[in-house]
Amino acid sequence: MANDKLYTLPKLPYDYAALEPYISKEQLTLHHTKHHQAYVTGANAIFEKLDKARKDKADLDIKATLKELSFHVGGYRLHNTFWENLAPSGKGGGGLPKGELAKAIDEEFGSFERFKKEFTQAASSVEGSGWAALSASTTTHHLLINQIEKHNVNVYPGFRILLVLDVWEHAYYVDYKNDRAKYIEAFWNLVNWDAVNKQFITHLKK
Ligand SMILES: [Fe+2]
Repeated sequence: MANDKLYTLPKLPYDYAALEPYISKEQLTLHHTKHHQAYVTGANAIFEKLDKARKDKADLDIKATLKELSFHVGGYRLHNTFWENLAPSGKGGGGLPKGELAKAIDEEFGSFERFKKEFTQAASSVEGSGWAALSASTTTHHLLINQIEKHNVNVYPGFRILLVLDVWEHAYYVDYKNDRAKYIEAFWNLVNWDAVNKQFITHLKK
């Protein structure tokens, strides 16, 4: 398989210390260089395994392989979105939604406060490891909060993911130990609403 078909770990759009005090340099460095990297490596290894088995005309446990691939590709892609939808607090991060997205949130949820409450509840109640996400239907333009288990369970086909919050313990344990609620509260100081609004406009253009 040509190398350009492999995943690579993207560079962060800010320094490792830039999200402090809400996410520490140590936490962000580990998360990006170890955990995100593991999904890049995992996804590439499975594509290579598939390629080799096809060339060798060998049998694979297709069910297990595809399940594992979905997990790693989901982990790779959701982390990309997560880094892109964060920014240093006060320098693009925090505040209120902007533009078309702000209007759509008000229309769908009644108010930003109501959206924030529902999103926080979704993030708080993920069992074990997973994500809270805001997505938009490319068909109806409805906004929807998703509670994604692992990296790949409960993803809705036809909904584009605009904003995610990683609530795997690996995302917050260094800074917050088991206090997920405190980490979720901190997250709101880092949301890059400008970037999320751009995702919304780009994905929903007809
Ligand atoms: Fe993560």
